[in-house]
Amino acid sequence: MQNIDWANLTFGYYPTNYNVRCYFRNGEWGELEVSSETTINIHMAATCLHYGQEAFEGMKAFRGKDGKVRIFRMDENGKRLQSSCDGVMMAKLPLEKFEEAVIKVVKLNADFIPPYETGASLYIRPLLIGMGAQVGVKPASEYLFIVFVTPVGPYFKGGFMANPYVITRKYDRSAPLGTGIFKVGGNYAASLRAHVEACHGGQYACEFYLDAKEKKYIDEAGAANFFGIKDNTYITPQSTSILPSITNKSLMQLAESIGMKVERRPIPEEELATFEEAGACGTAAVISPISRIDDPETGKSYSFGNGKPGPWSEKLYNKLRGIQYGTEPDEFGWITVVEGL
Ligand code: PLP
Ligand code: COI
Repeated sequence: MQNIDWANLTFGYYPTNYNVRCYFRNGEWGELEVSSETTINIHMAATCLHYGQEAFEGMKAFRGKDGKVRIFRMDENGKRLQSSCDGVMMAKLPLEKFEEAVIKVVKLNADFIPPYETGASLYIRPLLIGMGAQVGVKPASEYLFIVFVTPVGPYFKGGFMANPYVITRKYDRSAPLGTGIFKVGGNYAASLRAHVEACHGGQYACEFYLDAKEKKYIDEAGAANFFGIKDNTYITPQSTSILPSITNKSLMQLAESIGMKVERRPIPEEELATFEEAGACGTAAVISPISRIDDPETGKSYSFGNGKPGPWSEKLYNKLRGIQYGTEPDEFGWITVVEGL
């Protein structure tokens, strides 16, 4: 076990010992390679550098109370990476290879999996990039898949603590029929300006985007999906420009399992005024309760609860964390226990 101040980890890059790589050349994926290099040797005309042929994933491994190491819904991340590859015309990594690489990199860096009591986890970052040289706008013929890990703490301030968020009307993250549904770097490039302008003053945890067409409905935050809760109902946006969050999909199932109703539909901004609780959810965000959402350009402001996480959010959070850390039964089959650790 590494000597790290686990409990005070933030969501940043902390170097670990190994990463796992796999090249796609001559029309096929090669063998998994273990590397201790943190750099990539890359052609200056590679398509990832010019035309955004890049997709990534985000998942976590948890050390449980029982000492076992659990990875959450790895197959879903593998499938979403394939969908992102389809989205920007990259070679798709077979699911078995994805899962083998993820388990390998977690095992190789077992020393960096935070202890149970610290509430930290091992963030797993797979990425797939176009490596072949092109100058015309067309897909590469060579690709590289890498997966690295880094121990992380909470993404938003304080972890399970209510924070204020802000609606940005000046910029769109993705178009209705654009790449918002894929986890590709371009979406995040498109969000950086909005994020820095809206949030780097320190007042807000993250920016929320409205649908790009009508600027009427809540889409999602720059790094997480949105949910609102009222009348025992979990409500989350239906939109063609948001990332299909695996956490959100899980929360919808958990909400049903604890007796809530679930609705997935467009959420007009004014409806925010009617929610008893609201939250941002994702692998990095887990559930980050929202105290308030401001819309500075219209002067509107929407508050939720009493500035503390609401009771439903807390129940969902405990259920999700319980499954991830092994203190609740894995009733939906979401967990892969990493053998031999
Ligand atoms: N939305 C965006 C834009 C994200 O970057 C993420 C993070 O992955 C999410 C939503 C949450 O998705 P997931 O729960 O699969 O991590
Ligand atoms: C995640 O939740 O895994 C993300 O990718 C969000 C952000 C760090 C991009």
